[in-house]
Amino acid sequence: MFVSENLSVNEKNHLVIGKNDTVELAREYGTPLYVLDEDLIRKNCRLYKDAMDKYYGGNGLILFANKAFCSKYTCRLVNEEDLGIDVVSGGELYTAIKADFPMDKVYFHGNNKTVDELKLAVSHGVGHIIVDNIYELESLNEIAKDAGIVQNIMFRIKPGVDAHTHSFIQTGQIDSKFGVALENGEAYEIIEAAGKMSNVKVDGVHCHIGSQIFDIAPFEKAAEVMVNFMGDIKDKLGIEIDKLNLGGGYGIMYTEKDDPVPYDEYIKKVSEVVKNTAQSRGIKIPMILMEPGRSIVAPAGITLYTVGGVKDIKGIRKYVSVDGGMGDNPRYIMYESEYSAVVANNAGASAVEKVTIAGKCCESGDILLKDALMPEIKVGDTLAVLATGAYNYSMASNYNRIPRPAVVAVSNGEAKVVVKRETYEDLIRNDV
Ligand code: LLP
Repeated sequence: MFVSENLSVNEKNHLVIGKNDTVELAREYGTPLYVLDEDLIRKNCRLYKDAMDKYYGGNGLILFANKAFCSKYTCRLVNEEDLGIDVVSGGELYTAIKADFPMDKVYFHGNNKTVDELKLAVSHGVGHIIVDNIYELESLNEIAKDAGIVQNIMFRIKPGVDAHTHSFIQTGQIDSKFGVALENGEAYEIIEAAGKMSNVKVDGVHCHIGSQIFDIAPFEKAAEVMVNFMGDIKDKLGIEIDKLNLGGGYGIMYTEKDDPVPYDEYIKKVSEVVKNTAQSRGIKIPMILMEPGRSIVAPAGITLYTVGGVKDIKGIRKYVSVDGGMGDNPRYIMYESEYSAVVANNAGASAVEKVTIAGKCCESGDILLKDALMPEIKVGDTLAVLATGAYNYSMASNYNRIPRPAVVAVSNGEAKVVVKRETYEDLIRNDV
């Protein structure tokens, strides 16, 4: 009935997440409110880990892509589930440090890491830095030399694979700001250069073809291209690369139109491609890493809002305004993303009309759902937007000086605040 498996309706006709009544959560913690189902996040982590054990003999590591939801809470949670993490900025790294995340399981990405960010990573013993370009490589080699260490590195490679998703979240093609390309020899040259440096060790290669992808084929293609590249590097440079990081990007269900492939199926198919290609190239079967972000947290999250004004512009459109919007969920204004929503205090009701759910920011594009089929919605209702666990909190802003909502995690019927609601005082904290 709902897009996420952890949602149901109780005897009061209220939407339930895990074992928690969402109307009560809204009453207790206020709205807008992000709610995360901890049990589902753990389940998703285990699904990936178990598939890696089953189909790849455990010779792999699942990294949670922190950008999907970065907080001390999520860092601790995925650490308890034995995952590693990928971080993409000094801020994400700092969060992991403060959450006591084991630094050897941190993989640091980014197409323009600053010298300060690299120094922070080296000084805290970050396990792997995924080098994006030659300038970064040279600078990192110097930083590692000054620190008296040899830094393990991987390279971000563009495998030239076209993933069918929104153009803003496609990253595997040559015309991308991320990484070095295979087609023009850049990838080969950067590894050759690194092989001659004293304070970096080439330990792996990495690719990430995009996000919210539903086909398995582009992932299989990328894996094949990458393993062949590892074979070329061994043949031409004599460098044996141990690890292959295949990025993230597995699609999830936002609306009934979305049809994600089971994630263990991805791992099964991609594992076969990696093993077969490695064998045919005569190289050692590499350790593989995968970096799911969205598929671990998105289905576990919902956002609760209170309905304010309802504006029926006859013959044009009916707008239902809520007390949040693009500040807490900028995905419609950025990608015209689609979501599903439920009237949480009347969750079993059938859809009767088309409405547009709008936010409270001064932007006409501040929409959460456009022309969505919904039951009757009244002022004061609690509205739940579903599958908001990824790229909502982490992309939230204070536009119009609206404080960011709190995050409440629920587990087995218990709820706790894991990120506090911002106050007006927080908003002016750095003003001088
Ligand atoms: N690894 C790397 C290197 C990435 O760049 C990303 C996402 C991931 C892993 C995780 O991908 P996922 O499994 O979450 O699809 N803000 C956009 C998504 C941007 C994704 C950026 N990179 C959105 O809201 O759709």
